[in-house]
Amino acid sequence: MVYDYYASGAEDQWTLKENREAFSRILFRPRILIDVSHIDMATNILGFNISMPIMIAPSAMQKMAHPEGELATARAAASAGTIMTLSSWSTSSVEEVNSVGPGIRFFQLYVYKDRNIVRQLVKRAEMAGFKAIALTVDTPRLGRREADIKNRFTLPPHLVLKNFEDLDLGTMDKTNDSGLASYVAGQVDRTLSWKDVKWLQTITSLPILVKGVVTAEDTRLAIEHGAAGIIVSNHGARQLDYVPATISCLEEVVREAKGRLPVFLDGGVRRGTDVFKALALGASGVSGGRCCSRWRWTARPACGRCCRC
Ligand code: LAC
Repeated sequence: MVYDYYASGAEDQWTLKENREAFSRILFRPRILIDVSHIDMATNILGFNISMPIMIAPSAMQKMAHPEGELATARAAASAGTIMTLSSWSTSSVEEVNSVGPGIRFFQLYVYKDRNIVRQLVKRAEMAGFKAIALTVDTPRLGRREADIKNRFTLPPHLVLKNFEDLDLGTMDKTNDSGLASYVAGQVDRTLSWKDVKWLQTITSLPILVKGVVTAEDTRLAIEHGAAGIIVSNHGARQLDYVPATISCLEEVVREAKGRLPVFLDGGVRRGTDVFKALALGASGVSGGRCCSRWRWTARPACGRCCRC
């Protein structure tokens, strides 16, 4: 159940495969005889110096994968000198993550129907030293992830969505569906719209990155509504299937942004060559969630849904 949750995309998983394949279609045109004896990958993201333009994307419920979950990820990011974005739906709280020690961290935000929850959570993230909000805008409902439906996915009973524990919103009901899909349907605000990007700026002074933009039109709107940056993302292909690979959307977004705000990318990033391709096409940095280069998507006729059977 846990493996399927991490590994799968939505529906036919066409976009999951395409996120990788689109990278593989981009080839280099290398120039030669340039002095490369000194390589410095350090960069600056929203005013923060980091060691390389590679960051850690928000991925939820990491204690399902390892007992230390997000705490271990936070330590690893800090020792690598890069930024980690913590998921709203982490199994460690913003305060616990802060307690691992110094590090530059952003906070991924889901907007609940109850806006008081959002106000409190954003304040807690600020107090816990998080430096930016990555507002997820592609999840008015959860993508149809058929493996999760088949498995009746739910958070294992020894774990809790730690940021919501005190609000009694830290667990998922066991349903005939994916427990996470039901949780999203019950809690996440489907009315979320551009005016809420402005609203968020009234409750926090942290910069707001809009995560989930894949078109020029929405890039323009993000700029008009005061975004500090754009994350070209299709949610690791876990939301709307049959959207293009993020690397295929990048140039359009970068062209529209015209350098007015930084553009980041996640989705399909597995190797240094992928990072280089994204930078060459105008990204200021990339993030990875499923970063194992050995991981391969393979469709098998047996079920056509997962990469395991
Ligand atoms: C997911 C949500 C939690 O993709 O972001 O599973």
